[in-house]
Amino acid sequence: VNSKKENDLIRQSEKLLNQLKKRRTVRFFSKKNIPRGVIENCIAIAGTAPSGANMQPWTFILVEDSKIKNEIRKKAEEVEKEFYEKRITKEWKEKLRPLKTGPKKEFLIQAPYLICIFIQSYGINNKGKKVKHYYPVESVGIATGMLISALHQLGISSITYTPAPISFMSGLLHRPKNEKPFLILAVGYPHPDYKPPVLRKKSLNGILIKL
Ligand SMILES: Cc1cc2nc3c(=O)[nH]c(=O)nc-3n(C[C@H](O)[C@H](O)[C@H](O)COP(=O)(O)O)c2cc1C
Repeated sequence: VNSKKENDLIRQSEKLLNQLKKRRTVRFFSKKNIPRGVIENCIAIAGTAPSGANMQPWTFILVEDSKIKNEIRKKAEEVEKEFYEKRITKEWKEKLRPLKTGPKKEFLIQAPYLICIFIQSYGINNKGKKVKHYYPVESVGIATGMLISALHQLGISSITYTPAPISFMSGLLHRPKNEKPFLILAVGYPHPDYKPPVLRKKSLNGILIKL
């Protein structure tokens, strides 16, 4: 039998599970603002993530400026048009149908913040020499997960957005050569009329093998 402490921990984990089960990707945002300090703290949380050899190979660009948001939207909608008209495969289209996504990306201007996340494929030391980064993609993925989770726990929604190709973000935000765009996290409160698509998540038995 479990001790009281253990039972408390189980209950606490169930509570956390139920809270995190409520996270859904939001594709239409309300204009309601969020204090910038809150978002900065969430990015600081992402910065505590584990990373290969502690190289912390991430850069977060926090965009609040409507002019820059408009530029991002314009470029993104250009690549999306091309994707939905030419590059999408039949199988991909089937998978996207229930999500009701399309080439219009209004959320890029509705969301009060766009967090543009870049992977530093390698670092540059103060002598201008290349410094090796280890597992940069995995590391930035973990940091992004922590960011999404922190925002959610504060009642703030997001969409993990990956225009394909995303390379236009490098020039648009004037990033150096060692940084590769990873994804755009649009962040805000859901639009009051937004209903996320009905999706099913795999059960624990479907994802866990216990040995
Ligand atoms: C790496 C990654 C890329 C994604 N790219 C897009 C995207 O470009 N557009 C979009 O609408 N949703 C995108 N999503 C969101 C997924 O469609 C969404 O997480 C999935 O359907 C599950 O829904 P949920 O987040 O509401 O649980 C992406 C998610 C991940 C993790």
